[in-house]
Amino acid sequence: MNKIQINFFIMNVVIISGSTRIGRLSHQASIELQKRFAKRGISTEIIDLSEYRFPMLEETAKKHQNPPEGLKAFAQKLEEADAMIFVSPEYHGSYSGALKNAIDYVWKEFDKKPIGVVTATTGKFGGINASTQMQLLVLALGAFPMPYKLLVPFVDEAFDENGILVNESIAKNFEKFISEFVWFAEAIVSQKAKQKAKVLL
Ligand SMILES: Cc1cc2nc3c(=O)[nH]c(=O)nc-3n(C[C@H](O)[C@H](O)[C@H](O)COP(=O)(O)O)c2cc1C
Repeated sequence: MNKIQINFFIMNVVIISGSTRIGRLSHQASIELQKRFAKRGISTEIIDLSEYRFPMLEETAKKHQNPPEGLKAFAQKLEEADAMIFVSPEYHGSYSGALKNAIDYVWKEFDKKPIGVVTATTGKFGGINASTQMQLLVLALGAFPMPYKLLVPFVDEAFDENGILVNESIAKNFEKFISEFVWFAEAIVSQKAKQKAKVLL
């Protein structure tokens, strides 16, 4: 499968799925994104935080004497990513603590990278508060938050029992988000490639 081809290199897109809750529903948004990117010939990798189970931060990845299992691999995947998407449920008006805890282990891995945010809730607002806060988080990481965000309301009804997205209006929003993301990420990544090429000349 093709990844996004920009001039002479391929763009590496990582989706961080931020819910670790038993019976979580927002993870479906990560899977849906991956499916829809794939339909456009773009492969993505989902980093599922429920597979990492990092303890509450004691020290950052760089300085940790005894890093938790999987931390090096997690940091490496982020380092190699050209662009990212943060997917989170809204919990008490914000994004998930698991997402924040994982992100706090690393920093430079996000530097100047394009990052899109996606939130999902069972309620009608789709995580508007969490999404805005995630955009601020992206700024604090020294990365570039994409202005257009994807909100998935009524996530418990939007997907059927086979995980198929059955809500047409939400499906349209997924497509719009992906188009915006490809444009935004390409603009930043190709600019970096130009700069790199100049340095090499
Ligand atoms: C601790 C907790 C806090 C929540 N707070 C909110 C909230 O502030 N706003 C909201 O719309 N839904 C809230 N919900 C409901 C979520 O929208 C719902 O769990 C949804 O399925 C997304 O999260 P999930 O990936 O954990 O399933 C909360 C759920 C939990 C477990």
